[in-house]
Amino acid sequence: MSDGTAHSANPNAENTVNTKRRRFLIGSTTLVGAVGAAGAAVPFVGSWNPSARALAAGAPITIDISRLNPGELLGPMPAWRGQPVYVFMREESTLESLNARTELLADPDSEEDQQPEYCQNEFRSINPEVMIMVGLCTHLGCAPILNAEVIPQDYDPDWQGGFFCPCHGSMFDLAGRVYSGVPAPDNLVVPPHYYETDAVVVIGLDGENS
Ligand code: FES
Repeated sequence: MSDGTAHSANPNAENTVNTKRRRFLIGSTTLVGAVGAAGAAVPFVGSWNPSARALAAGAPITIDISRLNPGELLGPMPAWRGQPVYVFMREESTLESLNARTELLADPDSEEDQQPEYCQNEFRSINPEVMIMVGLCTHLGCAPILNAEVIPQDYDPDWQGGFFCPCHGSMFDLAGRVYSGVPAPDNLVVPPHYYETDAVVVIGLDGENS
């Protein structure tokens, strides 16, 4: 089970533009190392200890996100139906630029059934700042890596921040929307969820007002 680690967005970047797969793999290895090194145990997921049996059965889980700061990722955590869940706190600047390049996305309006209806909006979330997703690439299920910095990458010289899947190079924006032309066919899944309070979110159930 996860320790509820919060990872700061801290990718390494190479500025050389090269879309060959060989370079994809080199770049992604660097990212994995950087994220792992940045991890620090932050015990703020107080109520998130359902039993293994409950998790396997798909029991909802409750997460306290009160200590999650803008730019930080909580996860991955084996949370809902045995699937890792990401909770990413988006910065104001991220929200402002999120829809600047929608022409590059495969499903910019979230028309495919990859999220609850109440998250079929421009932010793919209930609270625009808080992005909640299943952390499994929709290609073959690897864990996409957060790379929130807006700096050129090997895989995208105009990278605006997002999630990069190291397995085969799929790219997703900071709403989990997949870019066109990558192996992953769909946006990342948004699980059903609702807020008990501003800081406590229940994942695995729709809210009464959903
Ligand atoms: S599993 Fe993510 S690109 Fe293949």
